Parts: sequence; structure tokens; C-alpha cells
Amino acid sequence: MDVFEAVRTRRSIRDFTGERIPDEDLEKILDTARYAPSPENMQMWRYVVIREDQELKKFIADVSRQAASELFGSAPYEITQGRIWYVPDHNRPATFEDMRLGDLFEYPRDADVVIIGCGSETFHDSPLIYELEYFGSIVVAMGILNMWYAAHALGYGAGYQALPVMEPRRCELLCEKIGIPRSWIPVATLSIGVPRSPRMLGPSRFPLESVFYSERWGNPYKRIAFRNE
Ligand SMILES: Cc1cc2nc3c(=O)[nH]c(=O)nc-3n(C[C@H](O)[C@H](O)[C@H](O)COP(=O)(O)O)c2cc1C
Repeated sequence: MDVFEAVRTRRSIRDFTGERIPDEDLEKILDTARYAPSPENMQMWRYVVIREDQELKKFIADVSRQAASELFGSAPYEITQGRIWYVPDHNRPATFEDMRLGDLFEYPRDADVVIIGCGSETFHDSPLIYELEYFGSIVVAMGILNMWYAAHALGYGAGYQALPVMEPRRCELLCEKIGIPRSWIPVATLSIGVPRSPRMLGPSRFPLESVFYSERWGNPYKRIAFRNE
């Protein structure tokens, strides 16, 4: 699979069989995170790989479910359904019900590994703070994206979740459980596993013309060469 195909066909996989990935494949995937770019090559990322501790995976799954039900379950369907406009009509009510209840986000439970990506603002000796907003969380996301493509290219599935770490009290609990020091902040998780079934190629993306502007804001970028979709 070349890089263009990997970019175009990667999707969030949220349903795993629970099977184990061969260690050599997993290590190939993990290794790609090291090659992500970072400011001054500071590599201000650390990843905790949760593989054997099923209890902890279940904790992460439970937290994700709870956080999702708070996020999506607190408003009526009529108001929030537009947020998943890209899901085909016949699937939308059921998908949204899974989101409202939080069931859709329990998938870390059946993943082979759940990776907790942590960034830091202060671990280096710079007198200035390198804000997580501009540095740490971005470099972790880049490392995660490398692993996501690698997992996909090897035929596995992966899903990015912010839900387990986005709420401060639950995040603190997670840090306590796995011993993350205060100078490191979990910013994302990536669950990797064997997909239960292949996923459709949605959700669709906005056309290039609507997200790229030419020379000035709002001036649609017009393609000069044609591209086969
Ligand atoms: C910063 C960020 C946070 C995300 N948080 C979650 C999450 O908490 N749970 C989840 O299942 N997916 C999460 N996603 C995945 C998106 O829902 C998904 O990438 C998007 O709907 C596009 O679908 P695709 O990845 O299949 O192309 C997140 C993605 C990003 C980039």
C-alpha cells in the first residue's frame, strides 16, 4: 500500500475481535511514532502501551462510554442528529443511539492494545513553556497518525479516542492508575486490533474547493489538474 492509498483508505475502526496481533507487527507499528516530527526534535512524547491489563482496558472503555453519554446523550436527537449527517439515512438513528448511550466508544475493551499518548510542556530545559496546545498535543497526534497508517497498511484497525482523557477528573484517575507524572499530560488514545468487519469508506470529506482557498481567504482553490476520485 503506498502512502496515498493509506491516507485515502484509513478509517476509524471501532469494533475489534479481541485477537492478538503478532508482536513483530505491533512493534513495527509502534516504531513509526518515533519518526514523527517535533519542535527542535525534542520528541516530547511518551506512549504507554496497555496490552496485558484487561482491567485497565475495561476501565478506559467504561470512561469512554460515560463521557460519550454525557457529551452526546444530553440533548435530544432532533437537535444533535445533524452532527452525523454523513452516516447513511437508514443507519443514522441506530448509530446515534449508540453514540447517545456511549456503546460505540467502548471498543478499547476488545482492542489488542490501547496506547495512551502523553505530551509535556515542561520536561525540557527551555525557559519558555512550550504550550501543549501548539506543541505537545500536536506531536503526540502526529505520532499517533503514523501508527494509525501503519496499522491500517498491515491490515489492522485503529481508533483514536480523546474521550478517555478529555475530562480532568477521569484523566487524573487514569494518571494515578498508570503512574503518569504531573509533567506529562495524556492527550489521546489509540486502540489497535483486528477489525471485526471491514468498514465502509465513509464518512465523506468536503471537496478540496471548499477547504482550500486560493491566495485570499474565501477564494475557492480551483483545481488545475483533474484527479480521479
Ligand atoms: C482530535 C480527535 C479526537 C477524536 N476523538 C474521538 C473519540 O473520542 N472517540 C472516537 O471514537 N473517535 C474519535 N475521533 C475520530 C473521529 O471521529 C474520526 O476521525 C472522524 O469521524 C472521521 O472518520 P474516519 O477517521 O473514519 O475517517 C477523534 C479524532 C480526532 C482527530
